[in-house]
Amino acid sequence: MWLRNKFVQRMGGGFFEQAGLDAWSKLQIASLSARKPTGEVKLLRKVRRERKCLNSAWECYNVMTLARAMIKLPGAFAEVGCYQGTTAKLICEVKGDKPLLLFDTFEGLPEDCDKDARVHRVGQYACSVEKVSGYLAGYEGVSYHKGLFPDSTDGVPEQQYAFVHFDVDLYEGTLACLEYFYPRMTPGGVMLSHDYGMLKGVEQAFHDFMEDKPEPIIPQATTQVMIIKQAPVAAAGDPAATDPAAQAAPVLR
Ligand SMILES: C[S@@+](CC[C@H](N)C(=O)[O-])C[C@H]1O[C@@H](n2cnc3c(N)ncnc32)[C@H](O)[C@@H]1O
Repeated sequence: MWLRNKFVQRMGGGFFEQAGLDAWSKLQIASLSARKPTGEVKLLRKVRRERKCLNSAWECYNVMTLARAMIKLPGAFAEVGCYQGTTAKLICEVKGDKPLLLFDTFEGLPEDCDKDARVHRVGQYACSVEKVSGYLAGYEGVSYHKGLFPDSTDGVPEQQYAFVHFDVDLYEGTLACLEYFYPRMTPGGVMLSHDYGMLKGVEQAFHDFMEDKPEPIIPQATTQVMIIKQAPVAAAGDPAATDPAAQAAPVLR
């Protein structure tokens, strides 16, 4: 529970957060290297060395493996909240030919609200779009959408998503991500968010949004949380209720 302490959280973005996360991630990488393929462990170590990464090694591992699992489903990939591009790079490494849409203000965090623990600063975690696009220049199919989410979805074509990663730290941004992506998720697709087990606003946004939805909230052993989108349940009398092919078909709601 000490990670939920406001004093600890106010150190976010500073030397102590990074040093603590790096030390903790070294232990996590050591544990991963005992049981996971060498190539995966090397990639995690490399990405975490290249740039400042705000996800622990286990969290990075979850982003990478869930994204990789979702390439079987129809739909694009997206991330909201890229900072220096480390989790985005892990998604790029496994996404194959899927499009990846990256949303960020690229000017750091916006204003928080009274649902947040008031531990962040406006502009915290700023990194320019040029720095992130330079870092990811070798990957095909990556697009950048600068601005406050969800305003930055203006002009984005209507499409389905198979995997989306949220890492925006705040209540309003997380709620906006859920409102935008939930109806566009392919059945079976995954919405993964960082910081659910740590930041009050992120947790509250999930509880508020998912309250009247059928899918369970699935907290992870890390700070992350996952939602697996269900296929819409057909009403009795609807031909889709007895046609398995129609039920399995990805539908936009
Ligand atoms: C914690 S950082 C993301 C860390 C990153 N995923 C990594 O690999 O280290 C949070 C990011 O969310 C962005 N952000 C927060 N709220 C946003 C919003 N409503 N719209 C767009 N970007 C937002 C910030 O600019 C910042 O880059």
